[in-house]
Amino acid sequence: MHTTYWKENVIYQVYLRSFKDSDGDGIGDLNGLLSKIEYLSELGIDTVWLSPVYLSPNVDNGYDIKDYRAIQPEYGTIAEWKQLLDELHKRSIRLIMDLVLNHTSDVHPWFIDAKSSRDSRYRDFYIWRPASEDGGPPNNWTSYLGKSAWTFDESTGEYYLHLYNAKQPDLNWDNPELRAEMYKIMKFWLDKGIDGFRIDAVNSISKDQRFPDTEESKLQASGEPYTKNGPRIHEFLREMNDEVFSKYPIFTAGETSKVTEDDVLMYTKPERRELSMVLSAEASKLADLDEDQWQSKEWTLDDLRKVMLKWQKDVGEPGGWFGLYLSNHDQPRMVATFGDQGQYRNESAKMLAIMLHTLKGTPFILQGEELGMTNHPGLQRIEDFNEQQAHAYYDVMVRERGEPEDLIMERIRRKSRDHARTPMQWDDSPNAGFSDGTPWLPVHPDYPEVNVKAQRDDSGSVFNFYRTLIRLRKEHPVMVYGKFDVLLEDHEQIFAYRRYDEAEEWLILLNFSGEHAHWELPEKDAARLEGASFLLGSDPDGTKPPCHRTGTLKPYEGLVYQRLELPGA
Ligand code: GLC
Repeated sequence: MHTTYWKENVIYQVYLRSFKDSDGDGIGDLNGLLSKIEYLSELGIDTVWLSPVYLSPNVDNGYDIKDYRAIQPEYGTIAEWKQLLDELHKRSIRLIMDLVLNHTSDVHPWFIDAKSSRDSRYRDFYIWRPASEDGGPPNNWTSYLGKSAWTFDESTGEYYLHLYNAKQPDLNWDNPELRAEMYKIMKFWLDKGIDGFRIDAVNSISKDQRFPDTEESKLQASGEPYTKNGPRIHEFLREMNDEVFSKYPIFTAGETSKVTEDDVLMYTKPERRELSMVLSAEASKLADLDEDQWQSKEWTLDDLRKVMLKWQKDVGEPGGWFGLYLSNHDQPRMVATFGDQGQYRNESAKMLAIMLHTLKGTPFILQGEELGMTNHPGLQRIEDFNEQQAHAYYDVMVRERGEPEDLIMERIRRKSRDHARTPMQWDDSPNAGFSDGTPWLPVHPDYPEVNVKAQRDDSGSVFNFYRTLIRLRKEHPVMVYGKFDVLLEDHEQIFAYRRYDEAEEWLILLNFSGEHAHWELPEKDAARLEGASFLLGSDPDGTKPPCHRTGTLKPYEGLVYQRLELPGA
């Protein structure tokens, strides 16, 4: 299959644990999702990306897998999963599963066997190294949790590598037997009829086999120069594609970080037969300090524009592809970081949505984003947080280094991944209609106003705005395949660009500030765009006069103008 339907798709991430609980245990489940399929149809999305639902001790909420072929009992059964797949397909919604290739859980049978003896048949499925000369870890790499990336196994006297938690040992992709096992797992799900995979941390699976010390002094993941885009990564992906992906009518979206334009092209140009598209964390992490991801960095519109332009210009044209997102389960809510979660919540949620649906790339929506959900103000003390990285940071900074608790908690409150994981807000009944029991993470207190039921009936809501954008993508190929040009490149408040094809031209103006912002189009564009009609905007007031060469945007306003009669037509 060489179609590019996945470029046209809008993908919706279901973080199942927080989507809809059907049995009152406070945890979202497959039957809950099943009961909300009509909602997905109504929203209009094309594909569901289901975060991991496999058997897992939940150290990292499912990203630590014990059995790749089994469903986590608190989520349901394989029969329920199959029913979900069938019901989605009946409505022409595709399903992609989350594929965690870089590591397993430490209670996966492979790892249990691997650490039982140096002679275990599974020993080489993982990455073992002797202690360094001083008896410490083999090198100085840190994990994403800010601790050593190596843990000593007493019984066999060697260290094993884990880029994440010690309970998430890294797999050794250099071992062909491991690769063959992973291909069988992929086929297990593909043979059930799924439509592809979102592949977790995919550009980490090939490591520099010299395992050299790093010179990076950053707190988390200091070994990245040797663990990202490693020496055999393209070989592994080509093999995976030849052995598995190419045999099915599917697409793949690989989660990456630390990728350049060239890397993205290498991963996604169709003739290279690797991945369909990549997701790059670069934009969503603009507000994170590289040396310590829990600290905030001031970002400017110029920074964001540069990241976005990088993918628009250099990747789209030569045939690579990528997913567009600012929100997923690993980031605080995008409105809080890139918009305004107070006074201009609705405006900024819509303005960001315009950007994510009108730039080149496949939009990925995190559940609740379509309501403009924001960070949870009630997550205050370390006990209030669930995700492991927040706890690890607290341990390292407060317990080990004696940093002031207030300072560290302030960072955690702002940046925790839990903000993205609070329960979906369905209505104004107790627990926002998410569960009859006690939700595993607290429901955001704004749910009486911010919920699906209220927004459905409000034509000016964020929800209805997303519906419109998703529908427009199906009606206007220019949003997917149109060419791209940036305008007003030095503007400090407004991100402006145009998309165009033979049929139409769109002018998109996005105010990233809480102040009014004035624009003046350059002469050559003004001549063409003057008189273009108003297509859509974040202002619920309704329609606007046609485009003029100058104008003013309200705080966080986003506007789209459309010109149909193109010069020469
Ligand atoms: C990815 C996931 C994240 C997880 C990590 C380890 O980045 O998105 O949630 O913690 O991989 O699997």
